[in-house]
Amino acid sequence: MAETTHQAPHGHDGEGQTRRDFIYLAAAATGAVGAAAAIWPFIDSMNPAADTLALASTEVDLTPIAEGQAITITWRGKPVFIRHRTAEEIEAARSVNLAELVDPQPDEERVVEPQWLVMVGVCTHLGCVPLGQKTGDAKGDYGGWFCPCHGSHYDTSGRIRRGPAPANLVVPEYEFLSESRIRIG
Ligand code: FES
Repeated sequence: MAETTHQAPHGHDGEGQTRRDFIYLAAAATGAVGAAAAIWPFIDSMNPAADTLALASTEVDLTPIAEGQAITITWRGKPVFIRHRTAEEIEAARSVNLAELVDPQPDEERVVEPQWLVMVGVCTHLGCVPLGQKTGDAKGDYGGWFCPCHGSHYDTSGRIRRGPAPANLVVPEYEFLSESRIRIG
């Protein structure tokens, strides 16, 4: 008898517990959907219109980039590599026999000022971002950039020298606004 009395409330408790769990989960799910709905328009409103994106240009101050250093900026959603080349890097880029290149292009055609190399940092193979921007990065066999995705090596002019990439890193349109300031795009 004592046992029956003891079990009955347990049964009720069990059902109550289940109902409470259900209510709690349903409320949590509604809460999550509500939050997502509230966040989405905010993110969407941050996306510029397609025509604004196509026209977008960006200005970069080159003053803080010491010789031998590189920085990466974002332009139209892509990384752009800017390297302040050393005299040795310029010399290496210019002493190459163009006939050896996969995508022959003289270094002179890839820069406005020899010490500043500006390129879209997207590997022309499958679109990975090559290494070579940071001091400790692997720069590949030609001292420029190395894409570890499938092993493409770029030289100090950003030209493809070894590996599966079919073309040189792309040089975007840019101009010097002053000696130490450029506008890309
Ligand atoms: S994406 Fe760079 S080597 Fe394949």
